[in-house]
Amino acid sequence: MTADTALAVDAVPSPDLELAKQTSALTVQEAIPEAGDETKSSRTPPHRSHDPQYNMKRSDPFMFGSRYLDEGDNVFEFNAWDHVETDDAYKEYSEQQFAMQRASPVSDFEKNKFNSDPARFWNLFYKNNTANFFKNRKWLQQEFPVLHTVTAEEAGPRVVLEVGAGAGNTAFPILAHNKNPKLRLHACDFSKKAVEVMRSHAEYNTEFMQADVWDVASEVLPPGVEENTVDVVLMVFIFSALSPLQWEQAVKNIHRVLKPGGEVCFRDYGRGDLAQVRFKKGRYLEENFYIRGDGTRVYFFEKDELARIWSGVFDEETSTNGAKDGISEPTPNTPQQPSAVIAKSPLFDIEELGVDRRMLVNRAKKLKMYRCWMQGRFRKK
Ligand SMILES: C[S@@+](CC[C@H](N)C(=O)[O-])C[C@H]1O[C@@H](n2cnc3c(N)ncnc32)[C@H](O)[C@@H]1O
Repeated sequence: MTADTALAVDAVPSPDLELAKQTSALTVQEAIPEAGDETKSSRTPPHRSHDPQYNMKRSDPFMFGSRYLDEGDNVFEFNAWDHVETDDAYKEYSEQQFAMQRASPVSDFEKNKFNSDPARFWNLFYKNNTANFFKNRKWLQQEFPVLHTVTAEEAGPRVVLEVGAGAGNTAFPILAHNKNPKLRLHACDFSKKAVEVMRSHAEYNTEFMQADVWDVASEVLPPGVEENTVDVVLMVFIFSALSPLQWEQAVKNIHRVLKPGGEVCFRDYGRGDLAQVRFKKGRYLEENFYIRGDGTRVYFFEKDELARIWSGVFDEETSTNGAKDGISEPTPNTPQQPSAVIAKSPLFDIEELGVDRRMLVNRAKKLKMYRCWMQGRFRKK
């Protein structure tokens, strides 16, 4: 498992020693005030309460978003807070890290190795990480209510496509709570090994679910999925695995399979996330795009950038024009049709796009660490 365990990204990780060393610049020295006496205050909000009858489970993503840090709060009293902007020390530290990373990029030879067959490294990943495959994603239905709608008993025929489904961490929890006898769940991944893992899962049930190999940036649609037939596409920490040169084709494919009005449920890494900041020398592929120690690629998104990508209107800088595996250079448009004069209309409405920021605290070491994820819902026009 690499330090940045891709499949553990939705859990609140416990900071490891390596991380503690790297973030020592952020150590906060001030003394910890005594925790408030809660028996005296019946008004202590549940996210700050230590009363087992009343407190909120603080590391449970299901309650994500409600752990506000107020002025006067003791940061180190709990291990996670939501909606916390990074402090100046962390911003400065991040910028220093980014400058160091840019100064020591991946060599062209290595770039070619990682970009030419990315599925190979994901196959290795799934071969090596069997123990950590399955995680319960309780937050899914809460964050994406459409998953309740399509799995309700009376929902009628509904098709859900999960892209980059990996070992099925998202697919199997959906299946487990499904009450709709007419639900069809297609779980696709370009890693053969991931698909093998899903197919051999005890809950794999072909009556409701089909796991297949599919590259979202290819020019074909997933096996058994027709154009304009899918109600919901789920993309959870998959888009970050694509090269920027693959974004356009991926968005077009998702647009093709969705019914008009169909919805994309999206969650992925945000720029400035600790996983980005802690990359060392020799990992930088291009701006915000890195290679992990296990050879898998990861991109960190800005909010505006995602809104642009999912509008589906690509300019010539990011346009793939048929690039495969992110290794081809973008081809300029023909002189007769410069992109600026092609009237393209957006493919999706951005219904919701938010930045999920959390501050994680290593209470023993007095370290503050910032995580940053992007979450959105995009609707096919
Ligand atoms: C970080 S993992 C996330 C897996 C799963 N969605 C989850 O959240 O547990 C990224 C997944 O995307 C898959 N992937 C990467 N590039 C892909 C592509 N071009 N097409 C389909 N799947 C891809 C990888 O094989 C891997 O399973």
